[in-house]
Amino acid sequence: MASASNILRSRSWQLSLAAFGAGTATYMLFPKAEMKSEKKAKAKSAEKVASGGEDVPKLLNEAYAKLNGPDGAKCKSLLKKYLTKDVIEKNKNKKTKLGASLYDCIRSGVYNLDAGVGVYAPDAESYTVFADLFDKIIEDYHGFSPKQKQPPVDLGEGRCKELKPLDPQGKYIKSTRIRCGRSLAGFPFNPLLKAADYETMEAKVKQSLESVKDKELKGTYYPLQGMTKETQAKLIADHFLFKEGDRHLQHANACNFWPKGRGIFHNNNKSFLVWVNEEDHLRIISMQDGSDVGNVLDRLIRGVKAIEAIVPFSRDPRLGFLTFCPTNLGSTVRASVHIKLPKVSARKDFKQICDKLNLQVRGIHGEHSESEGGVFDISNKQRLGISEYQAVRQMYDGVKKLIELEESA
Ligand code: ADP
Ligand code: ARG
Repeated sequence: MASASNILRSRSWQLSLAAFGAGTATYMLFPKAEMKSEKKAKAKSAEKVASGGEDVPKLLNEAYAKLNGPDGAKCKSLLKKYLTKDVIEKNKNKKTKLGASLYDCIRSGVYNLDAGVGVYAPDAESYTVFADLFDKIIEDYHGFSPKQKQPPVDLGEGRCKELKPLDPQGKYIKSTRIRCGRSLAGFPFNPLLKAADYETMEAKVKQSLESVKDKELKGTYYPLQGMTKETQAKLIADHFLFKEGDRHLQHANACNFWPKGRGIFHNNNKSFLVWVNEEDHLRIISMQDGSDVGNVLDRLIRGVKAIEAIVPFSRDPRLGFLTFCPTNLGSTVRASVHIKLPKVSARKDFKQICDKLNLQVRGIHGEHSESEGGVFDISNKQRLGISEYQAVRQMYDGVKKLIELEESA
């Protein structure tokens, strides 16, 4: 795992310092209550600022009591399942080099008792320092044991044509989308980023994206700052832009300085898009109407390659590409279709059928939304422990099976 000090010493950090012109190597945690002014916060040590200078062991005990008391009676999160008294005892006084505590990792799931997972890593080092908790959650979610390693990158180059359209007659599938996440080498995740980091990262990413030569991918970067509310709402409603005000991210301290440094790049016909500094530093997206998964993947591969040629990304030998949420580690790929399956989705065991196929079901506006007009968002569930191509195939093979079930019903 790339610890903060290793990152500082590593070549990728030097590269990113040169590339991004980042001026300082010290990051601090800025919980909202403490964030009176960046200047004031700068004067404090990371140690003091982390967790708002609060009593972390006490906060952890209160969190445990909440999750396991009457308030948490209906809570089914992986956080609740794995945050044992033993884990608290062993980790209550630990901090990452950048100052993140165990409480910083769990605060989102403590506030949001309806969370499915409930944890985020404020920096890459959190995954190793707080492995007692993260390893268990990662194994439960991805089926990836602490002894496993993410396989080498395999985006599926040269094999996109094998992925024939899933629904050539357009009877079931409205649209197809594949996204992956990337983190810029040398920068921690949202809770530890400073205002100046957002500016540096945005400027670098904008410049890189706008220099992409591929004719189909060429486009423009639109910062959230200054975007009209109408444009923003239309982009969200049309499934192109991330939502605003996600309480899971807010309670993870991931929305500091919003909308600074956040934005979206897209090509003319909005089939290649990049989200900047929402949950992850980058979300790279390829999407189009219909079910031509191969074409969507081919475009994503070209996009990822074009960006990585300019911007160095952080990758861990065990966990693969690093992301803020443990559910997205590894391949980071979520390949999805918007699909209508009237007969199969009416079955009582629809959810169980999807679980068995390792498919995740979301609503029409993505995570934490409901289905509308019988349209579901169905994607691969696993991202870690399988290659990028295997993640796409998990969705492809599973959805093929669902269509067969629909046709034979
Ligand atoms: P992510 O996929 O990045 O994890 P969400 O689940 O919130 O995040 O989805 C982001 C947006 O992408 C939402 O507007 C969602 O409706 C849209 N989306 C996801 N899959 C598809 C698809 N196959 N076709 C069209 N839009 C999609
Ligand atoms: N923290 C949220 C939960 O536990 C989201 C988890 C996965 N999704 C994500 N966008 N990272 O429900």
